[in-house]
Amino acid sequence: MDSIRILGGNQLRGQIKISGSKNSSLPIMISSLLTDQELVLDNIPNLTDIETLVLILKDLGADINYSIPKRKSSLSTTSDRIMHIKFKNIISNQANYEHLSKMRAGFLVIGPLLARTGYAKVSMPGGCAIGTRPVDMHLMGLKKLGADIKIEKGYVIAEAKNGLVGNKIHLSKPSVGATQNLIMAASLAKGESIILNASIEPETMDLIACIRKMGVDIDVHGDNVQIQGTINIKGASYEIMSDRIEAGTYAIAGCMTGGRIELTNFDPHLLESPFEILRNIGCSIKLFNRRIVIEKVVKDFEPAKITTEPYPGFPTDLQAQFMALLTQASGKSIINERIFENRFMHVQELVRMGAKINLDGDKATIIGKTELIGAPVMATDLRASVSLVLAALSAKGETIINRVYHLDRGFEDLEKKILNCGGIIERIQENKYEVI
Ligand code: EPZ
Repeated sequence: MDSIRILGGNQLRGQIKISGSKNSSLPIMISSLLTDQELVLDNIPNLTDIETLVLILKDLGADINYSIPKRKSSLSTTSDRIMHIKFKNIISNQANYEHLSKMRAGFLVIGPLLARTGYAKVSMPGGCAIGTRPVDMHLMGLKKLGADIKIEKGYVIAEAKNGLVGNKIHLSKPSVGATQNLIMAASLAKGESIILNASIEPETMDLIACIRKMGVDIDVHGDNVQIQGTINIKGASYEIMSDRIEAGTYAIAGCMTGGRIELTNFDPHLLESPFEILRNIGCSIKLFNRRIVIEKVVKDFEPAKITTEPYPGFPTDLQAQFMALLTQASGKSIINERIFENRFMHVQELVRMGAKINLDGDKATIIGKTELIGAPVMATDLRASVSLVLAALSAKGETIINRVYHLDRGFEDLEKKILNCGGIIERIQENKYEVI
């Protein structure tokens, strides 16, 4: 298994082009199930989660073509993948455990597959490193739209012989995945559906914008989403939004190393809550049109209090990265994790690097400032892994981060983007060094 070696202490200075959003790309690729016409998607990032979803969709019958631009030099960064997806025919109604155990977002095929064919058999996603992550709200919503649901041998079997029918669905929490699944299912249902207490995360709004282009009438009022189902869903061309979590992560990398980072290809409004915290602790953030310049402007950061919440609150996907940053603030910082019940697996690894962090249920208390010292570390999920990259970049000495496959799931060209800004980072392949 590959690992990453980082020699800390260099300031990160330079420009980083933000890639397309992973968490927008996945549901939008899945929305191609709603039509037999072609969906052309621009700004798809080059990530292993995208590759896993391509395999899932191909098993269901998708014809998928996508181009990877040639890397001009060893330090250039790639992006702008254009993907063509067409589901002329559905050849299978079953999504298997083999792929879904690697990537939970694949479960979202159940809604559109059921809506299009009247039957879907999809593996339950199984356990996860950040929490139990049930799918009860997805299933409750599909039942409201008229589906019969059974669970057999680890698979959800959903049937709607006479098609789905629009209804009012009240989510007990604004689940991102359940909202996206139900929006897709309701798009092909007969009549109007309303999802109350829906997720209004930017990635959900991106999915809605794409499905609107495909010809579905969808209105959003506050956190209610109103969908007029139609059988006339057509193909479209759509550009995926940029990745707000990647942008937030590199913003922190710049500040934490005392450097200066310019983020391009990114809409700053997507990160208002994290940017407010960065400003409060001592960073300057200058906003331009799709460009941001960020740097640390104090000697020592101020501490902060953070609570993760649904959008527009502070995103859970930046919690681990902010925890790494707050180890460098003078004083006591507090992070409350309110979205997932087990999203503190990075804490013990940060502690091994010298951080002082106390955990009490969903609350972490970070006592700073502590000097971070490089160490061999290991993470259990994508955002936890990247928090260790941030800690390593500002630590003294060498850090080896194992289980790099987590990073490859969600950060396009991570090493190259960091190297281009002056960080010292290299990938160690299982038995040899790769010269980057
Ligand atoms: C999405 O996961 C993202 N994944 C996650 O990003 C992100 O952390 C999360 O939303 C929250 O923003 C993708 O977009 C692919 P939820 P999702 O349904 O849809 C509970 C990353 O690192 N819940 O909003 O699975 C659930 O257990 C990932 O990129 C139920 O109880 O998140 C959690 O506590 C990780 N029943 C809370 O709701 C359900 O039926 C929010 O989950 C569904 C969810």
